[in-house]
Amino acid sequence: MPSLYIHVPFCVQKCDYCAFYSQSLVDSPKGLIAVYLEGLEVEMAKRQKDAPHGVSSLFIGGGTPTALKDEDLETLMAMLQRNFHLNPGAELTIEGNPGTITPSKLEILRRYGINRFSLGVQAFDDKLLSAVGRIHTAQEAREAIGRLRAAGFDNISLDLMFGLPAQAMGTWQATLEEALSYAPEHLSLYGLMLEEGTPLYERYKEGSDDKIDGLETVEIEAKARCYPTGSVQSDALPDDELQAEMHDWAVERLKKAGYTNYETSNFARPGYECQHNLGYWRGEDYLGLGPGGVSCLNRVRWKNIEDVRAYQSRLLKEQDPVEEAGPEALSLQECMAERMILGLRLEEGVHLTSFRNDFGVDLRDIYRDVLERYKDKDVLTYQGDYLRLNPKYAFVANGILSDFV
Ligand SMILES: C[S@@+](CC[C@H](N)C(=O)[O-])C[C@H]1O[C@@H](n2cnc3c(N)ncnc32)[C@H](O)[C@@H]1O
Ligand code: SF4
Repeated sequence: MPSLYIHVPFCVQKCDYCAFYSQSLVDSPKGLIAVYLEGLEVEMAKRQKDAPHGVSSLFIGGGTPTALKDEDLETLMAMLQRNFHLNPGAELTIEGNPGTITPSKLEILRRYGINRFSLGVQAFDDKLLSAVGRIHTAQEAREAIGRLRAAGFDNISLDLMFGLPAQAMGTWQATLEEALSYAPEHLSLYGLMLEEGTPLYERYKEGSDDKIDGLETVEIEAKARCYPTGSVQSDALPDDELQAEMHDWAVERLKKAGYTNYETSNFARPGYECQHNLGYWRGEDYLGLGPGGVSCLNRVRWKNIEDVRAYQSRLLKEQDPVEEAGPEALSLQECMAERMILGLRLEEGVHLTSFRNDFGVDLRDIYRDVLERYKDKDVLTYQGDYLRLNPKYAFVANGILSDFV
């Protein structure tokens, strides 16, 4: 059974750092949500054949699904129920932002069986929130958590960000401590990434051109992240070293609080690991519907176009709403590399027997050179039937992981 992702490409307003495909509702023409829902219903009807035995999990993400009005949310949920068999007991998640979560929306979601909520808190600090263009205050996040619990959600995940402009270790620690006081079942902690094309990237990219002459590329990148153009230092982004310290502090703190760091950025109380994302990381099939949705079935991957109107009009004309490059048949080599890269971000590591069953080769043979390179360095270890990355390298592992490509 594949997992199912539904992309809802709308937000009340875009955050300054975000490069995910979504449209600000403030700037969208009237009626765009109806156009989106019309296209989505056609795509669902077309794709239900790919999940004849139901879906293993559901994730309604975005964007901000809770930015939809009650009647649109009801339409979306009813469409899902009509087109897909959501297995009883499966993990059914929706994402949402404080400031958009009302008791009536939560009532609709509970009625349709949504049993997990992922809330984008980012920080319990109004200055930091407004510095990156979030629409909500810390108080609205507190209220949202209260509403979720009151509505019966007993599986809540909170998204937090570290490395935000002017964020100090102390403010990061205060945010995480407050998050823990609400006893969430799951936490996702994301280090801020400067994404090209976002307002935050524009603000920080040229900050210190004249200061970086003569530095190595890596240092230039680290420096360029620090100071906004023509600004005072108080708006500085934490550098890579401080970001890594924030991550490491959080790992230790969360361990003490009883959470497992089951993936580099993800933490759960035992039994509350996100099944949907585990499926991606373990290389299982997934369907991703909606504009910008990505699917991968039987080693063929495709991505839908990131344009609501074009997506809908193609579907109404019985055409595939897929990006111009079309579906891509992944080579065995690509699939194996991806399995290694995603699997080594998991605490459990890569399962040797599943790798052999899925690809017909032993990863110890196919990656002999890479494994030899790290053999004596306490970087990669075998534990039972798994190959694991030493967790102390997890946050800085990109160099190691790219060796598998
Ligand atoms: C795409 S958002 C969707 C959820 C919801 N709209 C929200 O804002 O919480 C999922 C998460 O991605 C993270 N994110 C988005 N852009 C990021 C960036 N440039 N760096 C780090 N994390 C980012 C945010 O923490 C956010 O909670
Ligand atoms: S972080 Fe969330 S709310 Fe902000 S623009 Fe991205 S998807 Fe929208």
